[in-house]
Amino acid sequence: MSTPHISANKGDIAERILLPGDPLRAKWIADTYMENVTQYNAVRNMFGYTGTYKGERVSVQGTGMGLPSLSIYVTELFNDYGVQSAIRIGTCGGLLEKTKIGDVILAMTASTDSNINRRFTNNLDFAPHADFKLLLAAHEASKHLSNVHVGGVASMDYFYDESDAIQRLIQHGVLGAEMEANQLYSIAARKQRRALAILTVSDHVITHESMSSTDREKSLNTMVEIAFAALLNG
Ligand code: HPA
Repeated sequence: MSTPHISANKGDIAERILLPGDPLRAKWIADTYMENVTQYNAVRNMFGYTGTYKGERVSVQGTGMGLPSLSIYVTELFNDYGVQSAIRIGTCGGLLEKTKIGDVILAMTASTDSNINRRFTNNLDFAPHADFKLLLAAHEASKHLSNVHVGGVASMDYFYDESDAIQRLIQHGVLGAEMEANQLYSIAARKQRRALAILTVSDHVITHESMSSTDREKSLNTMVEIAFAALLNG
């Protein structure tokens, strides 16, 4: 069996999965953190791996960038491969003064400027949210850090947004802008699965500061460790 975008057999993918946007990050996580790894997907180079972390069976799958790309992978993982819990790990642009480069954001909710949910809800504005137990476990796992925020993010259609949308997000206290969490949460809600997004602030939308490559690597380690702890304990 396989789906249009995932070439795995049923049972090849664990019920608990990490979802980085970048497929090479999926490979790096499998190589660095997991044991007994098998690669189950290379379709479109969107790599997916299953193995163990601290003895527990887990998978890691790239999703690509943007709501449509993530929605393809998440729908197939939930519908065809029985995934129950999914944690996105990614980067975001900081929006507020307090969301500094290198900070970690646990996304309690994810707004969007996309029309993608309204098609389902006949213009009702559904508020997509994280699974509370995964969020709580991620918060517990990151308690020792001083730079963790819990709050709302926004999954925007544009990376290069020349409109005033960002200002309106800031007015609402939204912590960061990224491009995927909203659909992870929305599809999980419709399929009654559990989801969370953990994000590192890689650049700041207002000050235009950005992260050095060494800091990027360090922050990725921190985020992956929080995500695995949440996946196992949440
Ligand atoms: N906007 C959207 N997605 C992002 C950003 C941003 O500024 N930074 C990292 N991912």
